[in-house]
Amino acid sequence: MFASSQLGVDLGTMNVRLFSQTKGLLFDEPATVAYNRQADKLMAIGQKAKQMIGKTPPHVEVTYPLRNGVIADFDRAKALLQQVFKQSSKQLGLAFKKPDVVMSVPFHATSVERRSFYEIAKHCGAKHIQFIEEPVAAAIGADLPVSEPVANVVVHLGAGKTEAAIISLGGVVACRSLRIGGNQLDEDIMQYVRQHYSLLIGEQTAEQVKIEIGSAPGTVMEQSVTIHGRDFVTGFLKAVSLSPTEVQTAIKESLWQIAEAIRAVLEECPAELSGDIIDRGVVLTGGGALLHGIEQWLSTELHVPVHVAPNPAEAVAIGTGKALRAMPKRLDAAL
Ligand SMILES: Nc1ncnc2c1ncn2[C@@H]1O[C@H](COP(=O)(O)OP(=O)(O)OP(=O)(O)O)[C@@H](O)[C@H]1O
Ligand SMILES: [Mg+2]
Repeated sequence: MFASSQLGVDLGTMNVRLFSQTKGLLFDEPATVAYNRQADKLMAIGQKAKQMIGKTPPHVEVTYPLRNGVIADFDRAKALLQQVFKQSSKQLGLAFKKPDVVMSVPFHATSVERRSFYEIAKHCGAKHIQFIEEPVAAAIGADLPVSEPVANVVVHLGAGKTEAAIISLGGVVACRSLRIGGNQLDEDIMQYVRQHYSLLIGEQTAEQVKIEIGSAPGTVMEQSVTIHGRDFVTGFLKAVSLSPTEVQTAIKESLWQIAEAIRAVLEECPAELSGDIIDRGVVLTGGGALLHGIEQWLSTELHVPVHVAPNPAEAVAIGTGKALRAMPKRLDAAL
């Protein structure tokens, strides 16, 4: 009974996930909120709200309340998590009331940013709240031996940020955060298409292109995709064929910056732990770890083995779930 009232929460820039010890992943949908401003009323969240993007009348606003991993719109984020808890409570029944919560936060989140996460969880009825830093949750979710005196290197590639961390004995030894993630790659694709084809495409089209044919430098892919948009010179709708090489060109600058951040954190590794990195390598988590060829490219760039975690996108949520077991029952988050 007690165990089922404990929840792991990963409220991200693009996705929100809830993990229960008894039921596993309870909720996994886009972190989107559709709001009717005229009626001052929440219309939908998650997948349902995401499907409304670009199709709404002016009084309906569809937004992602987090930016770069932190809360940018407090009220919408609160409404989102409240609704996520409500929808998930049906699966857990009465045991869901007043849950103890382990919540992931970006490593470099300030105390003000942590306070916002805390207030939202409290507002949603959480009894006790414990924070876990996202790279630590990702490493636990990827089954790395984080409590041992070895270098666990995890690179978490989210939508709004990238965090590269070395974890040993349960703590972060070194970490670099970058406000570049999957959303930036989508932006890069939008900009490329605008510059080369005078074509305006939406974020969702750009993301789809990235998922289908986006790849890290050196990856060979053949299949092109056809995209539709508006020619901003003529005003007409038009279709353009985009090749994997063009998409690689569009996103490579952002990928270089990610590789630089990882290199910087590896350089900060204490001598006693550096041998571990050569042996054990780097583990990739987050949705960005699914980009074609990223594993091989980073391995070549960094001269260390690189592996993608099993279920990389869910790793943080799984990690928060596993951390629940170790949660001190009396403590609230240290802000
Ligand atoms: N197959 C894929 N190839 C490339 N990118 C992908 C793929 N699948 C998902 N992504 C990208 O992964 C990102 C979402 O990852 P994730 O759910 O880990 O982010 P998040 O937790 O919402 O963000 P953050 O941790 O930065 O707050 C999006 O940018 C999405 O486009
Ligand atoms: Mg995340």
